[in-house]
Amino acid sequence: MPTKAPQTSDVTRRDAVKIAGAAAVAATVQRAQAAPGIQTVKAATNVVNYAVIGTGGRGSYHIQHLNGIDGGRCVAVCDIDQTALSKAMAASKDKPKGFKDYREVLALKDVEAVLIATPLYVHYPVTRDALLAGKHVFCEKSLVFTPEEVHALRKLSKERPKQVLQTGLQRRYSKFYQTAKQMVEKGLIGKVTHVYAQWHRASLGRTWVPPSWRAFRKFSGGLTAELASHQIDVADWMIGSHPEFVTGVGGIDVYKDGRDVYDNIQLIFKYPGGQKLMYSSISTNKHLALFGSTRTEFGEMLMGTEGTIHITVGTDNEPAAALWFYEPSPKKAEAAKGKEKAAVANASLLSTGKGGQGLPVLLERDLVNANDSFLQKELKFARQWLYRKGIMVPEEDKNPVDIQLEQWFECIRTGKKPLADLEVGLEDSTNVILANLAMDEGRRVFMNEIDKMGGGAAGVKKV
Ligand SMILES: NC(=O)c1ccc[n+]([C@@H]2O[C@H](COP(=O)([O-])OP(=O)(O)OC[C@H]3O[C@@H](n4cnc5c(N)ncnc54)[C@H](O)[C@@H]3O)[C@@H](O)[C@H]2O)c1
Repeated sequence: MPTKAPQTSDVTRRDAVKIAGAAAVAATVQRAQAAPGIQTVKAATNVVNYAVIGTGGRGSYHIQHLNGIDGGRCVAVCDIDQTALSKAMAASKDKPKGFKDYREVLALKDVEAVLIATPLYVHYPVTRDALLAGKHVFCEKSLVFTPEEVHALRKLSKERPKQVLQTGLQRRYSKFYQTAKQMVEKGLIGKVTHVYAQWHRASLGRTWVPPSWRAFRKFSGGLTAELASHQIDVADWMIGSHPEFVTGVGGIDVYKDGRDVYDNIQLIFKYPGGQKLMYSSISTNKHLALFGSTRTEFGEMLMGTEGTIHITVGTDNEPAAALWFYEPSPKKAEAAKGKEKAAVANASLLSTGKGGQGLPVLLERDLVNANDSFLQKELKFARQWLYRKGIMVPEEDKNPVDIQLEQWFECIRTGKKPLADLEVGLEDSTNVILANLAMDEGRRVFMNEIDKMGGGAAGVKKV
């Protein structure tokens, strides 16, 4: 958590650059030591043998990341498409065998776990068969496609509690998002009343076009499943509950190319405590009015009674980022002067009514604690000083995608519950399915309607 603010007089700018520069070098050395191929003895004896099923865009992205991760060995890859399969066989450092039929992979005794990155409509059948074959599963978001599948997967997974089921919602594994959640829990932005989230992707007219599976409702949940699912999950997590109902408007207003999924969606989710998630995904513009518009496309804004957090998970090229805007109510502003010191804010933030510049959210490694050595404290003060001057920005030392994969292996080895577990995945899928229904039917859809859909929670239909 943010801690005592550094006194800028403690370090000069030049000192700070020198010191934090040394810190950056040290971090680079640490990262290099954890580079691909250098497996620890412990990891080598404890590796999880896994297969990747579906090696298109996301599957091959995972293979690339898995190549740099200890703790697993890719023994098989599977895709119905020969080109995707050949590429994956060549891309994995583990020289896996290739298969076109996933059932052959599930029959392999040495495959303990499967990573599923098939199109949405093929998530459930592969996940179901994998669980029945005794495998641990990582399945990409959105976990399932239909109400029937929500009920059936919950039932099946509960019957097999020893098998790990993790969903590909990587924001749950981001240090920035975890820090934001702690800030919310500690009341640093007061009560969160609204979450504003967007994913505006101008390239959709070129990429997600027919005959891509993403363009058709028969196979795809459209923008809601492909993009919004990540951010609806963030809202649930930060607000700390599930929505009561959703309403929205979607349209096929731009791309008259035969697609039948919406090319723009606007959704409002209402939570039991009165909080709202306002969500927008459009395909004609990529502007993002967060982070002073220095980022594009996607991000979330958590708005509380005493402050706001801008947050984005970023990409491989633009790392995750988070900014905190402190907003004490006028009468609390004076009293907050003392508290402010303990919370890293500086005096300019108390100029209420003017808006603020936003403070970088500090990660654990940047916070000064009593056990730090003199040098460690100096390094941390220097980094904080540089962040506040805008010379450096805090960065996560690992991509959340890598952390989610490492933790998947760890959960398999230890039996620990994943952060993005079955219930997180099913709740997210429920929100996606019902948001699409709300737009299709032009009405408020209550989340408990899922209980009566698809055979209902009690009478699970065979799917
Ligand atoms: N977590 C994230 O940030 C993220 C990012 C991108 C995609 N995804 C998800 O990953 C999934 C895949 O997306 P993508 O972009 O890789 O799609 P894609 O179309 O590029 O790849 C899907 C692959 O699955 C293969 N496939 C289809 N049916 C199969 C079957 N029965 N057995 C084996 N292979 C089969 C296809 O041939 C294709 O190569 C989607 O659910 C998507 O939402 C998640």
